[in-house]
Amino acid sequence: MTANHDLNARRDIAAVLHPYTNLDKHAEAGPVVMTKGSGVYVEDDQGRRYLEGMSGLWSTSLGFSEPRLVDAAHRQMQALPYYQIFGGRSTEPAIELADRLLGLTREFGYDKVLFANSGSEANDQAVKLIWYYFNAIGQPRKKKLIARTRGYHGVTVMAGSLTGIPTNHADFDLPVDRVLRTDCPSHYHYGEPGESEAAFVDRIIGNLEALIEREGADTIAAFFAEPVQGSGGVIVPAAGYMAKLQAVLRRHGILLVADEVICGFGRTGRMFGSQTFGITPDLMTVAKAMSSSYLPISATLVSKAVYDGVLAGSRKHGVFAHGVTYAGHPVCSAVANETLKIYEERDIVGHVGRVSPHFMNRLQRLGEHPLVGQARGVGLIGALEIVKDKAARAAFAPSEPVGAMVQNLALANGLVVRAIRDAVAICPPLIITESQIDELFDKLTLALNGALAHARAQAWIA
Ligand SMILES: Cc1ncc(COP(=O)(O)O)c(C=O)c1O
Repeated sequence: MTANHDLNARRDIAAVLHPYTNLDKHAEAGPVVMTKGSGVYVEDDQGRRYLEGMSGLWSTSLGFSEPRLVDAAHRQMQALPYYQIFGGRSTEPAIELADRLLGLTREFGYDKVLFANSGSEANDQAVKLIWYYFNAIGQPRKKKLIARTRGYHGVTVMAGSLTGIPTNHADFDLPVDRVLRTDCPSHYHYGEPGESEAAFVDRIIGNLEALIEREGADTIAAFFAEPVQGSGGVIVPAAGYMAKLQAVLRRHGILLVADEVICGFGRTGRMFGSQTFGITPDLMTVAKAMSSSYLPISATLVSKAVYDGVLAGSRKHGVFAHGVTYAGHPVCSAVANETLKIYEERDIVGHVGRVSPHFMNRLQRLGEHPLVGQARGVGLIGALEIVKDKAARAAFAPSEPVGAMVQNLALANGLVVRAIRDAVAICPPLIITESQIDELFDKLTLALNGALAHARAQAWIA
């Protein structure tokens, strides 16, 4: 351990409250402190290099050293480091970014863009816009929101309530009222023995219709869905599910909000996950890869119908009384504009299309590994389901943390991946090359083999 790292670790443990961290373990093990990045690699304060197989938090799409993003921030900092967009003020970067986002989503026909800082806020304000809209159009009973088991929409009080992961609720007094929970579309996890994928989809869509009947469509405002459920374990929806979901929602006058915070901007092989899965959401939320995460910025995109309702509300109250200090922040917007320009100039979606077959091939080959129950993915996002018993799809006990072991062995091997429940998630920067994909999966295979040897030595597995 270097003296510098030792000092960093002591100061970190003393002062930083770490999100999504076992706080006792952290106080013992201390932090991994990253200090540099280059392409798909990052380096820690002990000079160890890692292939960042998670793009930070599913987000650093252009890798860790894109000079054009640094220059864009620097130029905007010098011209106008901050201004706000309340009260009809505006800035050129914010105008350009809203225009670009509407252009990229033209086939969905959005009319306006409301900026915020994080994915959580983008979803939170989507809820507020929807309530405001239904009140304005004389349907004030439409208040409830449907979200799915294993869905992840963030951690603010409302977004956290939409999130369908028990640890995000426990002792935070969530979810708040108005949120209805429906099925996760994973046939692997929730299909009944012998049930085909098509029958599974029909069953869970039937469950949704029954829920809507029970609650009353006139009380339900919207359905929130990630095209691929990321933090819930990289759940790629069962075939045919999304189209049937949209049809049911349309029939009942329930708005569909696509949470594209992970899927947006190429991750699934098309510009938006909604295109990959053939849906036309009424609202869309975006963040993360919109700026390659170099600076925080997010947005909620709304249809003309929703905007017209919001306009009516503004007429009634004399103001659309919502907004955050940093909405459309000029430096964040300038970086996002440059990111979107780079996606276009370098045909990032085309690149994902070219390297994804290799990624998926290497991923699926790991499906043969004794620890892997299912290898699933699309585009450049995937996961390995770590199981104790493949045939029974049985997970390891909490006292047998094999998923976390794979994550830790990978880290020791110079690879960042993330264990979520029993899944090991992989979501590399979109600029990754085929040879870097090989490096990623070679390292991951070593980690799986190490975890298997340990699990066998402990007699956790035969
Ligand atoms: C699909 C999705 N929605 C929303 C969020 C919340 O975004 P943030 O952490 O920026 O608030 C996340 C974060 O991982 C996410 O994956």
